[in-house]
Amino acid sequence: MLQELEEYWESFQEEIQKASTLSDWNYLKGKYVGKKSRWGEFLAKLKELSPEEKRVWGKKINQLKKEMEELLEERYQELLSTEEKSEVDITLPGKKGWSGSFHPVLLTRDWILTIFQSLGFRVEEGPEIETEFYNFEALNIPPDHPARDDQDSFYLAPGYLLRTHTSPAQIRVMEKLKPPFKVVVPGKCYRRDAFDATHSPMFHQIEGLVVARDISMGDLKGTLETFVRRFFGEERKIRFRPGYFPFTEPSAEVDVSCGVCGGKGCRSCGYSGWLEILGAGLVHPQVFTHAGYDSQDVRGFAFGLGVERITMLKFGIKDIRWFWENDVQFLEQFNIF
Ligand code: DAH
Repeated sequence: MLQELEEYWESFQEEIQKASTLSDWNYLKGKYVGKKSRWGEFLAKLKELSPEEKRVWGKKINQLKKEMEELLEERYQELLSTEEKSEVDITLPGKKGWSGSFHPVLLTRDWILTIFQSLGFRVEEGPEIETEFYNFEALNIPPDHPARDDQDSFYLAPGYLLRTHTSPAQIRVMEKLKPPFKVVVPGKCYRRDAFDATHSPMFHQIEGLVVARDISMGDLKGTLETFVRRFFGEERKIRFRPGYFPFTEPSAEVDVSCGVCGGKGCRSCGYSGWLEILGAGLVHPQVFTHAGYDSQDVRGFAFGLGVERITMLKFGIKDIRWFWENDVQFLEQFNIF
């Protein structure tokens, strides 16, 4: 009896030390304290003994069994912590890593810039805090123009405001560079507009400016047509409508044919077949003069587009406020890289 118990105990100790995974452990638990264990057999053998021996051996058996259970528990905890750290179950389905995405407005901005860069434009920047001179005067916007109204601008101090468009960068670029040049200037703009489906007090624009000796409306049209086809698709057309901007002459409002109906007219284009995408024109001689150029000597074209608006047209986004809500389900749809 004693020898058998001793052997049982020793083999248990040996095996439990060797157990290196939880499934080894499970097997040993069954073998030494579960249904397959030999304790029942040992207890049955007690019947053959004298009452005095029964008491001694009974106690011994119970004690050993209890010790085994304790050791098993101890080993279980050790294995659990090492398995958690190291064992990779390659049969589990993979977990997809979380990754952020570019905001649709910035995605569109960079895409537009890339197209213009491929046409030889360089990217410049201008300050968000502007003076009245750069934001208005130099651009031929007289003091009584509605855009100067307090309603439309965020003034920081007399003479200083948050730029209401990227056009002041035209003047800064002309002061810095010598013609000929082609630039695009992306940036944030601010207006005292109420938040609604198509307006937000902060928005993005991209300004374009080309200055050389000999520039015509044909150059403007060809450039914008190339841009529109690359950005919206080869099948899209553009059209120029007469427009008015104080800093261009002539000025045009530029439309792109509706991508939903192909120009026939449908609900998305207000049954006109066209969608307005930007303002443009030939640089007004007064603007050249304000920038310190000889207006007899140079010609240029300029354009300005709203990045939110273009993004909405491109992706069929119905409300500008969605750009600001930071709804992950909305933003995740643009995780396209
Ligand atoms: N600055 C104008 C706006 O914010 C947009 C614009 C129109 C820019 C015509 C231009 C242009 O450069 O030629 O509404």
